[in-house]
Amino acid sequence: MKGVVLAGGTGSRLFPLTKITNKHLLPIYDRPMIYYPIQTLVDAGVRDILVVTGGRNSGDFLRLLANGKEFGLKHINYTYQEGEGGIADALAMAEHFADGKKICVILGDNIIEGNILAAAEQFRRQPSGAHILLKEVPDAERFGVAEVADGRITRIEEKPAHPRSNYAVTGIYMYDQTVFQKIKTLVPSNRGELEITDVNNAYIAEGAMTFSFLDGWWTDAGTFDSLLRAANLVAQSVEEKRLAEQGAVLT
Ligand code: DAU
Repeated sequence: MKGVVLAGGTGSRLFPLTKITNKHLLPIYDRPMIYYPIQTLVDAGVRDILVVTGGRNSGDFLRLLANGKEFGLKHINYTYQEGEGGIADALAMAEHFADGKKICVILGDNIIEGNILAAAEQFRRQPSGAHILLKEVPDAERFGVAEVADGRITRIEEKPAHPRSNYAVTGIYMYDQTVFQKIKTLVPSNRGELEITDVNNAYIAEGAMTFSFLDGWWTDAGTFDSLLRAANLVAQSVEEKRLAEQGAVLT
């Protein structure tokens, strides 16, 4: 399975922090934001990765990541999204790279505590369709929200004013090669974007969507509050790991 990190968009909710740099280059505790989703893919056994970026600072990604040596990679692929037409518009840029293979897509501002290895293994065995990861949250209205009945997702609503469940759709999506055909049928939403939720609903309509729940904490980092939360969660995890290692040395 190949990997795609989506790191385009304007990051307008973080102005003026994003006035002179790309949101995904901002620090989350001790590393730039983009490091975390790349590491998530690498931890899931994905080695062939495309970074989709955009805006005026796209060259900085190449300077920062180079060929991915820090992640144990031999090579990273890059492409450029013109404008900010939405998550599905950014993903459309990956069609050539995917080359008919399955892909694991992760939003560049999504940070997780654990890993997605089990879900990735499950999707590698799934003959076709899609797989998404859900997380129970107290503020579902900020996200895509999944309705689940009889062990299946029946519908996803994008940022509903009155969520019908607490199950947020995290920004980690696994797709077969039909995803690009589905994107071509989309029309822009009220916010003028091609929505990834519409892509997911197309898989649901075909009965081709499976899901699992994400273990450990999960956060996005696209607002001032979530950016701070992300940094605090990462700092806490780093400290816990350090203490655990210290404990292991002492015993
Ligand atoms: O974080 C999970 C949520 O992400 C999901 O629950 C929602 O269903 C999904 O729509 C998305 O919601 P946001 O409104 O928070 O997405 P945002 O516009 O902040 O974009 C998230 C990432 O997607 C961003 O960090 C980079 C990438 N992106 C976004 C846009 C609009 C692009 O690469 N290009 C774009 O044009």
